[in-house]
Amino acid sequence: MRTTITVNGEARALDLDPRTTLLDALREHLRLVGTKKGCDHGQCGACTVLVNGVRINACLSLAAMHDGDAVTTIEGIGAADRLHPMQAAFLERDAFQCGYCTPGQICSALGMLQEVADGWPSQASPDIAGPVTLSDDEIRERMSGNICRCSAYPQIVAAIRDAAKALA
Ligand code: FES
Ligand code: FES
Repeated sequence: MRTTITVNGEARALDLDPRTTLLDALREHLRLVGTKKGCDHGQCGACTVLVNGVRINACLSLAAMHDGDAVTTIEGIGAADRLHPMQAAFLERDAFQCGYCTPGQICSALGMLQEVADGWPSQASPDIAGPVTLSDDEIRERMSGNICRCSAYPQIVAAIRDAAKALA
């Protein structure tokens, strides 16, 4: 199945088995291995990418569904010599140990901040109609789909809090 996806700003034409997940298209066909496969079942968040600016689990989505979409992976967020403020905050706060969950955490955090900016409430929001204040409880709730086996959660929350301020 011919599918064209704009990945990190570049149109990529793919000839795929229609059963190929977006995660496998990225990792196995485009060799963008920054996006990680943890559970392959939508349970860990390691495969989180942004599709048209919205975070999704790439393991739960078929690549063919994204013909014409713009996908951003961790490779498109920043680079070693020009870190995105979210990446810099993770480094500064030591918000990882093995790093396996980190690309998904960072993509998810960026999608989450946009959801907050758009006024989406969460289970932790005191008023679902009101503006969202990004408390630590909000960050924890909104990032609950991203599991860290190394349990770097306190540092991850701190990094996201710092990055949210830097990006405001
Ligand atoms: Fe997609 Fe775990 S690999 S949620
Ligand atoms: Fe190891 Fe999160 S840093 S799983």
